[in-house]
This record gives sequence, C-alpha cells and structure tokens, in this order.
Amino acid sequence: MNDFKGIEKFVSEKSSKRVEAGSIPEDERMIYANEAIHSDSSLKDYERWMTINTDRFVGKKILDIGGMPNGKFARAAKTKGIDLVTLNPSISEIAKERPIKGRNVIAGYVQNLPFQDETFDYEISYGAIPSHLAPVEKEYSDAFNEIFRTLKPGGQAYLVPVYGSVLKTEVFQKIKEGLLNRGAEIILDDVGFVLDENKAKVKVFKMTVKKKSRS
Ligand SMILES: C[S@@+](CC[C@H](N)C(=O)[O-])C[C@H]1O[C@@H](n2cnc3c(N)ncnc32)[C@H](O)[C@@H]1O
Repeated sequence: MNDFKGIEKFVSEKSSKRVEAGSIPEDERMIYANEAIHSDSSLKDYERWMTINTDRFVGKKILDIGGMPNGKFARAAKTKGIDLVTLNPSISEIAKERPIKGRNVIAGYVQNLPFQDETFDYEISYGAIPSHLAPVEKEYSDAFNEIFRTLKPGGQAYLVPVYGSVLKTEVFQKIKEGLLNRGAEIILDDVGFVLDENKAKVKVFKMTVKKKSRS
C-alpha cells in the first residue's frame, strides 16, 4: 500500500477535512487554486500514484484537470501519441515562471469546463481535483457535474487523491447519489493514506467515475 509521502505536500488543511453545505463567491475560486503548489509531475508519477497505465490513453482524447501546462506529463503524453488537453486556472500565474505555449493548454476551472458535452474519453486529475476545491457543496457538485457532462458515453474519470474524511460527509454522499441516479458507476479504490496535522492517518482513495456507453 502507498503511504503517499510523495503527495503529502498536496494536502492542505482545508482539503483533507469535511465538505460542508454552502457556496463561495466565484471570484474566491482563484484563492483556492493559487494556494496549490503548481507541481510538475512526470508520467511515471501519474502512473504510479493514479495506478493507471497510460497506454490505454493512446489515440484517445484526454483532459488533465489541474495539470502543469506543457509540463513533464504533457510532453511525455504527446510523445506517446496521446491527444491531451491540460486545463489549469492559474495559467497567468504559472506563466510568470515558465513560458506557456500550445493549443492544448486551456485556462479554466473544473467547476465550469469550457468544453462541449461528451468531449473526452478520459479525464484525470492528480493532486488537484477534488483536493484543491473549496470544501463546500457547490464547488464539489459543480466539479463532479462538469466532469460527468464532458465525458463521452463509455468514458471514465480518475481522480487521486480523494480523502476518506471527505467521502464520509453527507454532502459527498448526496453528490455521489446524484451521479449514480444519472447512470454513473463510481469505484473507490483504497490506495493509501496521508497523515493529518495531528499525525492521524487519513485514507486516500482513487475515485473512478464511469459514464455508461450508449447501447
Ligand atoms: C498540486 S498541483 C498538481 C499539478 C499536476 N497535476 C502535477 O501533479 O504535477 C494542483 C494544480 O491544480 C490546479 N487547480 C486548483 N484548483 C483548480 C480548479 N478549480 N480547476 C482546475 N485546476 C485547479 C492548480 O492551479 C494547480 O496547478
């Protein structure tokens, strides 16, 4: 089992706690996004921590939510023949440190994806969504609704890490039921743990959201 030392740095106090009812003003989203370390994980890191083999992405349309624009993963994916779009709300912030170019980089939030319905075969988020959302219902429900809307029938989303402390909340259960009622299949794989600020173990899950194929 992973002890997730590598992603402990992604865990902010806010993100590993409960999700409560309510909303935040949209202009506060940037505060949460910019709180993140804009890390640049390799394809190997993605495969290891997300427990995926990216061979299945070759020739498919993939959205990396909260990925590093033109980062290590994006460059390796391109070399492999993966049709990858990287979405990140902090592009102007990141561009202060490194040049960003290319058509496959889009500025935006997962809560309001700038894509048509049924665009992607796979959506992935590593160390970004849902862990960097404000811990309130509206942010979580918008994010999951948008991910589901933009998946093609038969498509799948993989999100890591999703914290056990979040999964237990009523708000999350409600969001999960909403997705199940729309025909989603949800799989939660226990992939390890992180330590909270009291050094207590918080379980970490990989969440897979599958959208049914049209039969
Ligand atoms: C810790 S980094 C992970 C980056 C990359 N996935 C990696 O592993 O190297 C988290 C990223 O999530 C992005 N992010 C934060 N809130 C977001 C949101 N609401 N929608 C999309 N991306 C978001 C941040 O801008 C940040 O670059």
